[in-house]
Amino acid sequence: MTANPTAGLLKAKAAAPEARPAPVPLQCVVNGRGYDLVVDARTSLLDLLREQLGLTGAKKGCDHGQCGACTVHLDGRRVVACLTPAVQVEGRQVLTIEGLAGPIGELHPMQQAFIDHDALQCGYCTPGQIMSAVACVAEGHARSRDEIREYMSGNLCRCGAYVGIVAAIEDVAARSRET
Ligand code: FES
Ligand code: FES
Repeated sequence: MTANPTAGLLKAKAAAPEARPAPVPLQCVVNGRGYDLVVDARTSLLDLLREQLGLTGAKKGCDHGQCGACTVHLDGRRVVACLTPAVQVEGRQVLTIEGLAGPIGELHPMQQAFIDHDALQCGYCTPGQIMSAVACVAEGHARSRDEIREYMSGNLCRCGAYVGIVAAIEDVAARSRET
């Protein structure tokens, strides 16, 4: 019987070790604390936060940039951490839900508004919703319910707590316009 040359090739390919990129040094500030890290160049910001820094507030919903559960702020702008390579935060400031409350533990007004308006059920989407909501107000994109819905459309809630979420954001936006 003739040997199958393709089978040999496939076997060799399967046995070949996967090339691993060299670890990369990374300095960044997360929630006001400086970090001097070494990361796998393929690591996402979400995995860096959750697996390496133990900050599990940002949630892994889809890991594909489609649900917003992993939303954090990077230099003050909202990003989905699952699609942000960790190496991109070199020299930059990251804010997660863990860093949002004040220094003595008082809740951020948006956190309080989510409680006041019953804007959650299971809470899985909530850290991402709140980080996105804070940015939405800061961007000036919370002037009406329709605008809030549009600019929060990247944050999905499987429990359907949208009525409370919009009300919470509307409340904080209205109060921020008064001050
Ligand atoms: Fe990042 Fe869904 S986990 S957008
Ligand atoms: Fe459950 Fe939003 S509160 S997914």
